[in-house]
Amino acid sequence: MVEITPDQTRSAPRHWYGLAYLLVFVAGVGFFLLSFIALGVLPGLRLADTIASPAQADMPDYTAAELRGRRVYASLGCALCHTQQVRFLPVDVRRWGAPTAAWETRYDFPQLWGTRRIGPDLARETSVRSDDWQLTHLYKPQWVVPGSVMPAFPWLFDGRADRPTAAASDLLAYLRTLGRAQQLGAGKGVNASLDTGMDPVMLMEITNLCAAPFINPNQARVDDSAPDRVQAAAGRDPLFARGSTLFAQNCAGCHGATGDGNGLAASGLSPKPKNLRQTQFSTQGLAHILWNGVAGSAMPAWRDLSTLDLASLTTYVQSLHPASVDPAQAPASILAHGAAVYASNCLSCHGAQGQGNGPVGLLLLPRPANFTAMQPDTTRVIQVLNEGIPGTGMPPWPGLAPADKQAVAAFVRTLYKSKAEQTP
Ligand code: HEC
Ligand code: HEC
Ligand code: HEC
Repeated sequence: MVEITPDQTRSAPRHWYGLAYLLVFVAGVGFFLLSFIALGVLPGLRLADTIASPAQADMPDYTAAELRGRRVYASLGCALCHTQQVRFLPVDVRRWGAPTAAWETRYDFPQLWGTRRIGPDLARETSVRSDDWQLTHLYKPQWVVPGSVMPAFPWLFDGRADRPTAAASDLLAYLRTLGRAQQLGAGKGVNASLDTGMDPVMLMEITNLCAAPFINPNQARVDDSAPDRVQAAAGRDPLFARGSTLFAQNCAGCHGATGDGNGLAASGLSPKPKNLRQTQFSTQGLAHILWNGVAGSAMPAWRDLSTLDLASLTTYVQSLHPASVDPAQAPASILAHGAAVYASNCLSCHGAQGQGNGPVGLLLLPRPANFTAMQPDTTRVIQVLNEGIPGTGMPPWPGLAPADKQAVAAFVRTLYKSKAEQTP
C-alpha cells in the first residue's frame, strides 16, 4: 500500500479551487454589471432619446392647479384601477387612437401609467366628457353609469355634485390634461410613436386603425353622419324590448326611468338632461344624436354601441313621446305671424329652414335645436320661451307677448319633417 501524504493529495486540486472563488466572484459581478448596463442603462439612454426627439417644442407644462390635481389623483389611488397608456395593440388603438408615446409623459415624475384596468384607460380622457359629467361621475359614478364599480368620492364635494371643493376642481383640471399634448401635437406631425421597428403587418394594421373614424367612441362631436343601417333597422317591433333594457342601463341615470329628464344625475348637470316625452324625434335625428352625443353637454356619444343597439334605443325613445295632443295645423294667419316672429328673433340661431345652423348658432355649443329633426310640443316651446334653457345659448324671451309665443310655437312645429319627407 502506498502511503499518500497530505501534500500529495492537495497539490494538484489546490490550483483549481483556489482560483474558483475568484472566478465565481468575477463572473457574478461581471454578469450583474452586464445586466445592469443592458437592461437598465442602455434602454434608459434610448428612452431619453425617444422622449427628447418627437415632442413638440411648446408642449404645455402643468399649471399649479393641474399639478395639485395630479397629486389628488395619485393619493386617491385612481391609478390602481386606471392605466394611462394606450398600448401598441389593435384592441387598444381601435378604442383610443394612437398609442402613447414616451414624450407624452415627459413631465410625469413619478409616472402614473398604472398596470391594471378595472376601469378604462384614461390617457386620452381630455374632452371626452364634459366637466359636469366628470364632477357628477366623481360624486356618484352610478348616477351617470348605472352598475359602475368605481367608488364614489363624495368628500371631494360640498354636499352636491355641482359644488366641488378645491381638491375636486384640481382633479378635474388634471383629468383635462390627459392626452392634451397628443391632441395639440396631432396637427403638427408630432406623433412619431409608430416608428418602432415593430412587425410591419401589425404596424400597418395599427396605422390604419389610427386613421379610422371611430377613434375614441365616446367623444361628443357636432357633425358626423350615423351609419344608415341604424335608420334602416329602427322601428321594428322586437327592438322595443331591447331598447327598453338598454335605456334602463344607459340612459335612466340622467333622463329618469320614464324619460322625463329627472334622473338622479340631473341635479349636478347643466344643461339638464332633456325631457324626452315632450318632443317628438325623427329617426334620422335620433340616430344622429346618439351617434354624435350633444357636444357642450353631459350627453355622451354612443358610438361604441352596436348598430342594432342604436336602432333599438331609437325605437324606444320615439315611443316615450305620447301621441301628440297638439292641433294638426294652426290657421294660416297665425302661422304667417309666427313666421315673422321667427324671422326676426329665432332665425339667426335656428336657421332659415330651422335646421339649427343659423350664423350665430354655429358659434354655440350645444348647437341650437334642429326643428326639422325634432318637434317640441307647444307647451314645451312656451316653457322654453319663458325660461330659456340654462346652461345653453337659448335665452328666455320676456319681451314676446303670449300671442307671439303661441304663434311662433305653431310655426316652429311646421318645420318638422316626418320620416316620409326626409332625404335619407
Ligand atoms: C375600484 C376601481 C376604480 C377606482 C379606484 C377608480 N375608478 Fe374610475 N372607473 C372605474 C370603472 C370600473 C369605470 C368604468 C365605469 C364608469 O364609467 O363609471 C371608471 C370610469 C372612470 C372615468 C370615465 C372614463 C370614460 O371616459 O368613460 C373616469 C374619468 C374615471 N373613472 C376617473 C377616476 C378617478 C379620477 C379616480 C380616482 C379619484 C378613479 N377613477 C378611481 C373604476 C375605478
Ligand atoms: C350623463 C347623463 C346622460 C346620459 C347617460 C344620457 N343623456 Fe341624453 N342628454 C343628457 C343631457 C344633459 C341632454 C341635454 C342636452 C341639451 O340640452 O342640449 C341630453 C339630451 C338628449 C337628447 C336630446 C338631444 C337634443 O339635441 O335635443 C336625446 C334624444 C337623448 N339625450 C337621449 C339619450 C339616450 C337614448 C341615452 C342613453 C343611451 C342618453 N340620452 C343618455 C344627458 C345624458
Ligand atoms: C342665441 C341663439 C338662439 C336664439 C336667438 C334662439 N334660440 Fe332656441 N335654442 C338655442 C339653443 C342653443 C338651443 C339648444 C339648447 C339645448 O340643446 O338644450 C335652443 C333650443 C330651443 C328649443 C328646445 C327644443 C327642444 O325640443 O328641446 C326651442 C323650443 C327653441 N330653441 C325655440 C326658439 C324660438 C322660438 C326662438 C325665437 C323666439 C329661439 N329659440 C331663439 C339657441 C337660440
